[in-house]
Amino acid sequence: MSVKLFISRDAGALALGAEEVARKIADKAEEKGLDIEIVRPGSRGMFWLEPLVEVERPEGRIGYGPIEESDVDGLFDANFLEGGDHDKSLGLVEEIPFFKSQTRLTFQRVGIVDPRSIEDYKATGGYVGLKKAIEMGPEAIVEAVTKSGLRGRGGAGFPTGIKWRTVNQASAPQKYIVCNADEGDSGTFADRMLMEGDPFMLIEGMTISGIAVGATKGYIYIRSEYPHAIEAMNAAIEKAREEGTLGDNILGSPYSYDMEVRVGAGAYVCGEETSLLDSLEGKRGEVRAKPPLPAHIGLFGKPTVINNVLSLGAVPHILADGAEYYQEFGEGKSRGTLPIQLAGNIKYGGVYETAFGVSLGELVNEIGGGTRSGRPVRAVQVGGPLGAYFPPELFDTPFGYEEFAAKDGLIGHGGVVVFDDTVDMAKMARFAMEFCAIESCGKCTPCRIGSSRGMELMDKIVANDDRAANLIVLEDLCNTMKFGSLCALGGFTPYPVMSALTHFPEDFGADPSRLEAAE
Ligand SMILES: Cc1cc2nc3c(=O)[nH]c(=O)nc-3n(C[C@H](O)[C@H](O)[C@H](O)COP(=O)(O)O)c2cc1C
Ligand code: SF4
Repeated sequence: MSVKLFISRDAGALALGAEEVARKIADKAEEKGLDIEIVRPGSRGMFWLEPLVEVERPEGRIGYGPIEESDVDGLFDANFLEGGDHDKSLGLVEEIPFFKSQTRLTFQRVGIVDPRSIEDYKATGGYVGLKKAIEMGPEAIVEAVTKSGLRGRGGAGFPTGIKWRTVNQASAPQKYIVCNADEGDSGTFADRMLMEGDPFMLIEGMTISGIAVGATKGYIYIRSEYPHAIEAMNAAIEKAREEGTLGDNILGSPYSYDMEVRVGAGAYVCGEETSLLDSLEGKRGEVRAKPPLPAHIGLFGKPTVINNVLSLGAVPHILADGAEYYQEFGEGKSRGTLPIQLAGNIKYGGVYETAFGVSLGELVNEIGGGTRSGRPVRAVQVGGPLGAYFPPELFDTPFGYEEFAAKDGLIGHGGVVVFDDTVDMAKMARFAMEFCAIESCGKCTPCRIGSSRGMELMDKIVANDDRAANLIVLEDLCNTMKFGSLCALGGFTPYPVMSALTHFPEDFGADPSRLEAAE
């Protein structure tokens, strides 16, 4: 009987050598005349264990990892196809604490199913949400998404149901669904993993959105740095069309919806929704003034829903299991789950999906295991390059939109980047200004000019050139950028700068001995 193995084809696993390991195992099995089938799912998201080799056994999938090509002979010697013991044995993969303690709603299939197989998708609850949506009709879908408490996972946390209602109520001959898969935030990779590991779920979410608002056409805007995600989405769209879950009269219903992938060149500002729409229209990505909102005048001037991958990816589950079920997870106004991405200098890096409310300290120290370098954690940047730096004193902050805002931070797209005690926070603050200067679309003055002046000021402060006076000017500049910028690129750059200054003043010249001590 054939033995089933699972070796991820996720870009992260491939970067660590998964392809070579899979090939070596296939060759070796052939040489030994052993009958195996290698399935290539997405990643379980435990990147310190990739390439992870899983063997299907009656008791569950037994894991071995991280496996290098040079381990393969030893795996066969250890009789791993029957779950034999080896130095790199991990036991049952789903019993590994990092995996077991998660609440996987959006990532329920990632790492488990073959992302190329629509049969796998259907066998694991796929299209249950779409079938329900077709029965419910547009207004009831919007009501369910509103009731679930789902908020945009792209960064701003805007209630998804309200956005959908606005487009539903707009009257126009053509409406659009746009999925924002630009994923430009530092330390984030959940969108990519979901597209690579469960592309049909995103297609299903976008289709439900199309039915809800009366849109017959959708686009996924994916950055060009994500070639595996682009390939996975294109392959899945093709299969969905063949199955009749995309196209005219979906599943025999009166609703029609189709979609395609568009590849962006990879500018951070093209993740901002209006800039993205310009880019989709073939123009240079430049932020549009709001109002009008894209919900009224969006892609090609038509009412448009624009949502992040994780927002749309949560929708099939909400429809299938009910809004009440989804909104029971979480705390306060942050409902449901968030696939949090643990990155930077962290021992157990990867994606960790959990209900809102988990504390930052638990994520970094317990789930993430502290730093990879083994040195003390000094700072954590949450929410991408525009997010604040939090010191360990703020580690009791629960993961939630309002809870982070109350500490002058943001959760953004759920990226957590960890730094140890060798980090120079003045350099990080300067980098925030530099990033803004490079990525600015140039439309408004506080951002275009302010970010360059910010870099100059940071240089003077670090060089102790009239430091006290320049710190006052920096604060003033940050306020101007915060309140005078047209979009969050200029408006939020002050967050990393001011948080570094507030929580780590010694790095701005007050106590240079600290950095020397850390060397
Ligand atoms: C500079 C900038 C970059 C952004 N990048 C992204 C991105 O890469 N992906 C994303 O989903 N949202 C990004 N956003 C947020 C989008 O403008 C928008 O809020 C989001 O796509 C709406 O979808 P959601 O409600 O599902 O989050 C960015 C915003 C700004 C200001
Ligand atoms: S804040 Fe920066 S990126 Fe945003 S519109 Fe102004 S210049 Fe463009």
